[in-house]
Amino acid sequence: MARAAGDIAALKAAIESFDGCELKRTARNTVFARGNAAAPLMVIGEGPGQEEDREGLPFVGRSGQLLDRMLAAIRLDETSAYITNVVFWRPPGNRKPSSEEIEMCRPFVERHIALAKPRFILLAGGISTQALLKSPQGIMALRGRWSEISVDGHTVPALPTYHPAFLLRRPQEKAKAWADLLSLAEKLEELG
Ligand code: URA
Repeated sequence: MARAAGDIAALKAAIESFDGCELKRTARNTVFARGNAAAPLMVIGEGPGQEEDREGLPFVGRSGQLLDRMLAAIRLDETSAYITNVVFWRPPGNRKPSSEEIEMCRPFVERHIALAKPRFILLAGGISTQALLKSPQGIMALRGRWSEISVDGHTVPALPTYHPAFLLRRPQEKAKAWADLLSLAEKLEELG
């Protein structure tokens, strides 16, 4: 289904009609993406929470508001960033998505990257970092270090950073996230 999707709209429709992920049974909405699919930056988070499930859009609750402020700090907004998650339905009670749930969604996530062709990917938090970098290391070791994600012969530089929900709990870690944002801003500037 993922491979058959020829554009972003077809991919969204395919995900909405896909019944292979258990999470969909308990979710109110499919949460696909927000922002500009043609933007140079793709932000990939963990999965929808309660607000996202209610609205059908990613990162619209408290962590989303912090994410928007983080992006605004390097002069990015919905016209210059494209925001999505590694799972498209809310895990009940906001638990972390299981590896099976992530694997069921993976072909769609990879197709999403292949179709959007971002120049850079910001991985928000340990779940999306481990899912997409396929690394045994955790976010504490990986954050701030540029890596690469390859899909369909297209290689995209990817930077893991702390999840905004983590920064809400541990504001003392914001300086590290700020350093990551500056590194990202530098790369975006090089694009011109
Ligand atoms: N946290 C995420 O990782 N994604 C969302 O969409 C909302 C909160």
